[in-house]
Amino acid sequence: MQSGDNAAGGGNGGNLTLVSHYVKEQSFKNEGGPAGLAFKRQVDLGCDLVTRRADDGHHEVEIKLRANSREGGASGFVLELTYAGLFRLQNIPADAVQSALLVDAPTALFPHLRDIAADTIQKGGLPPLNLDTFDFAALYRADTGKEPARNIAVASAITAQPALQPEIHKLFPTSIYGAPLGVSLHAELEAACLKLAAEDEAGRAWSRDGLRGGYTSYASIYDLPSRAPVFAALVENLGRHIAAFARAVEFDMQGRRFVLDSIWVNVLQEAGSHPAHIHPHSAISGTYYVSVPPGGAALYFEDPRTGLMMSAPPRAKTARPENRDVVAMRPKAGNLFLWESWLRHGVEPHGGKSPRISISFNYKVEGTVKNALA
Ligand SMILES: [Fe+2]
Repeated sequence: MQSGDNAAGGGNGGNLTLVSHYVKEQSFKNEGGPAGLAFKRQVDLGCDLVTRRADDGHHEVEIKLRANSREGGASGFVLELTYAGLFRLQNIPADAVQSALLVDAPTALFPHLRDIAADTIQKGGLPPLNLDTFDFAALYRADTGKEPARNIAVASAITAQPALQPEIHKLFPTSIYGAPLGVSLHAELEAACLKLAAEDEAGRAWSRDGLRGGYTSYASIYDLPSRAPVFAALVENLGRHIAAFARAVEFDMQGRRFVLDSIWVNVLQEAGSHPAHIHPHSAISGTYYVSVPPGGAALYFEDPRTGLMMSAPPRAKTARPENRDVVAMRPKAGNLFLWESWLRHGVEPHGGKSPRISISFNYKVEGTVKNALA
């Protein structure tokens, strides 16, 4: 039961107040079973109004709805629903009480009845019934020349339109794999990465020209796993994640396997960033996060179809991630992200005081041309 002093009208002077409203009786049969899903929505509706005095100043008004769907001679569903409201009448002239109870009161109750009818039918496995509002005033006027009847029958059959319930097919997904590496290497890796950054003069020189605020071994060191055992241990643990990602996106490897093509260290200083880019000549790319201090820069991905969007409107700021054209992800130390190498991505400006350290890599299908690092 719902309650509240909701004004329900009283167009003839005085006040008609809805004190509470509730389902009084309900039954539902899905006689068509699963076949009812396909029925043509010919729905016969009947509606009776019943009023009774509850006490001085209060009346109960019931809407008795009967909805029966059918297709040809076959029945789909039968819904019988009595929805009632308790109304308080104040200062309503005696000659206006009947219209208040047979027009204003059911008009106030009807939206609640409609919601319950739609919900019940939908829970019965059928598209919800989207009832048009009954015109109780017209029904009252039609009953002319005599005292308005306490029961009004809606005799005519009404064809109700099914509520729109489209099925959205999500095709061509862009998969981002995220997982903890599974072994705790990041403390040892942090020391190894910082040592490398301190010793790699060629890398620091390249980074000054080619990177915004930090260091990368991308263009200077091609044998990272042999530089320290911990780098080799990282690579050893990447393999099962690469295989899991390949299974998740259902690559048909035809007997071939993924092999590491390149791997490099990134040390991003405060305000440093990586502009959006792709990783050509490889199939799966990824990053393992060694250190991500508070304020650590997010990794962002761009919708690979952006160039095809023609005159599509922009996405809502509140859009779900799968519908956005740019999605930022905030990594944690010890976590791994993988994606297909054609996916354009970048790193937002780093907001941390201490460096954000990561190790990125490319995998290619065994036997394909080795990537020539630029
Ligand atoms: Fe990258």
